[in-house]
Amino acid sequence: MFVSDNLNVNAQGNLTIGGIDCTELAAQYGTPLYVMDEDLLRQNCRRYYSALNDYCDGNGLVLYASKSFCCKAMCRIAAEEHFGLDVVSEGELYTALSAGFSAERIVFHGNNKKFSELTFAVNSNIGAVVVDNLAELKTLNAIAEKADKVVGIMLRIKPGVDAHTHDFIMTGQIDSKFGFALETGEAFEAIKAALSYRNLDLKSLHCHIGSQIFEVDPYEYASAIMLGLMKKVKDELGFAIPGLNLGGGFGIKYTQNNTPVDYEKHIECVAKAVKNECAKLGLAVPKLYFEPGRSISGPAGITLYTVGAVKEIPGIRTYVSIDGGMTDNPRYALYGAQYEVCSVKNAAAPRSNTITLAGKCCESGDLIGKDMQLQPVEPGDLVAVFATGAYNYSMSSNYNRIPRPPVVMVSGGQSRVVVKGETLEDIIRNDLD
Ligand code: LLP
Repeated sequence: MFVSDNLNVNAQGNLTIGGIDCTELAAQYGTPLYVMDEDLLRQNCRRYYSALNDYCDGNGLVLYASKSFCCKAMCRIAAEEHFGLDVVSEGELYTALSAGFSAERIVFHGNNKKFSELTFAVNSNIGAVVVDNLAELKTLNAIAEKADKVVGIMLRIKPGVDAHTHDFIMTGQIDSKFGFALETGEAFEAIKAALSYRNLDLKSLHCHIGSQIFEVDPYEYASAIMLGLMKKVKDELGFAIPGLNLGGGFGIKYTQNNTPVDYEKHIECVAKAVKNECAKLGLAVPKLYFEPGRSISGPAGITLYTVGAVKEIPGIRTYVSIDGGMTDNPRYALYGAQYEVCSVKNAAAPRSNTITLAGKCCESGDLIGKDMQLQPVEPGDLVAVFATGAYNYSMSSNYNRIPRPPVVMVSGGQSRVVVKGETLEDIIRNDLD
């Protein structure tokens, strides 16, 4: 009935998440409200962790892509679940370090890191900077030299793999702002340059072929291409690159039409493909890294809203307006993303009405979704949008000066606020007279 197993209906007919009645959560914390199920977050982490141990003989590390959902509580959970962390800004790095995340398990991504960010990363002794371009390589070496340190790096390579997904989130092909292109020889030159810098230690190659991907083959294909490059480096430069980071991107079930591959299966297939290819090429099996974000945090979250105006335009459509919108979930506006929604108070009833779920911003494109199926609702009813744990809170904004909602974490039948909701005072905090 629901896209995620942690959602259920109780004896009162109300929607529950992690066993807690959503009407109670809304009554206690108000709406809009992000709710994250900590038990599911941990379960998702454990599935990756044990699959990596099983299929990579312990020679691997899962890095949680914190861009999908980042706050101190989430960083702590990732740390406790033996994960490393992928950060892409000094803000994410600062959050992780403030949460006590071990610096050596953090990798720092980005196609245009600022000097201050690279310096912060070096001073914090993070595990690796994922270097994107030649200028960054040079700058990072200079910072490391000045600090008298040897800094771990990964090199971001564009393997030229087309993973079938939305154009905006496809990053492995040659026409992408990220990384070094393989087919032009740029990647090989970058590796040569990296090996020549005395204060840099090349730990791994990296590629990320896209996001919300439902197939395993693009990963197997990308890994073969990357291993081919590692073989060339070994033969021609005499250096065995010790790691291979295959990025994130594993798809999740936003709607019943989505059919994700089990993470375990995914890791098993990719690890096997890597081992086979290494045997063929005469390479030692590298340490494998994966960087899942959405598949950890996405299914664990829902957003609760209160219905306001319900506007039926006969023969055209029915707009159900809620007290949030593109400020807390910009994914429909940005990508035409699909979600499912249900009424909280009669969650098991058939979703018999076709409606458009509209936000409250002064903008026609402010929708959570068009032509969604929902039970009949009235002003004051609660609705829940599913699978909003990834790229919702982390992409939220203050457009129209709307304060961000709080994030509540539920676990073992208890709830707690992990990110406070913004107040009107927060909205004017940085304004000067
Ligand atoms: N590693 C790298 C280098 C990435 O760029 C990303 C996502 C990930 C890992 C994690 O990918 P995931 O497992 O979460 O798919 N805002 C978009 C998604 C952008 C993804 C950017 N990079 C959305 O809302 O769909």
